[in-house]
Amino acid sequence: MLVIERLEVRYGAIRALRGIDVEVRQGEIVTLIGANGAGKSTAIRAISGLVTPSAGRIVYHGEDIAHQPAHVLVRRGICQSPEGRRIFANLSVKENLEMGAYVNDGPRASIRTEMERVLEMFPRLRERIGQLGGTLSGGEQQMLAIGRALMSRPKLLLLDEPSLGLAPFLVQQIFSIIRDINAQGVTVLLVEQNAYQALRLAHRAYVLETGAVTMHGRAEELLMDEGIRRAYLGK
Ligand SMILES: Nc1ncnc2c1ncn2[C@@H]1O[C@H](COP(=O)(O)OP(=O)(O)OP(=O)(O)O)[C@@H](O)[C@H]1O
Ligand SMILES: [Mg+2]
Repeated sequence: MLVIERLEVRYGAIRALRGIDVEVRQGEIVTLIGANGAGKSTAIRAISGLVTPSAGRIVYHGEDIAHQPAHVLVRRGICQSPEGRRIFANLSVKENLEMGAYVNDGPRASIRTEMERVLEMFPRLRERIGQLGGTLSGGEQQMLAIGRALMSRPKLLLLDEPSLGLAPFLVQQIFSIIRDINAQGVTVLLVEQNAYQALRLAHRAYVLETGAVTMHGRAEELLMDEGIRRAYLGK
């Protein structure tokens, strides 16, 4: 579904990605793990068209999308839930979800169907439907950010640190929702610092260190790897 080849991204003099190769197959959950500043969010932003690569290719369903703008990519089924949630604080939960369906130019009824699906998945958001986004708790905001991304009916969902700052119970809940979303046919690329949970959930994984992929393979193999356990799992 997605083949990233020798992708490079620079911010001025900083080389945030130094030629990474990553592949995501249809139906998979793939996770990118790595320390702060490794380039994880940069990779997500490059795939969603928010930063322009300085070299390399991002091939989606056979076509290089490296220089396509984000709004075009959302229409083609690539949508992200960004790091730090970035919900609209002064819009209600309902309005935030509707913003996610902005690219859905079908009939109003299809937006309602989609919203129903999202509210089914996140009952908490249904209870809070009229509340302003900015007054939601951290965990609720995270649910809203994921729900909003789902409103565009993504084929490839990019999640940047969905569990950041959440209590252990909510982390479990978010990971179980990601599993459900994937079971419904959505391919997922997940960026996480919670490497243990991410490796338990994902089919395959890539380890990023200062802009380069240093290791990749089946998630359950990486979970057993001595080096990974020491560096990322605190064992
Ligand atoms: N807009 C920017 N301008 C300059 N440098 C940037 C910019 N965005 C990111 N960087 C730098 O690029 C590198 C990679 O950043 P990135 O946000 O991709 O890391 P990350 O792996 O997502 O880290 P974290 O786990 O802390 O979210 C970092 O050194 C960062 O300081
Ligand atoms: Mg990041």
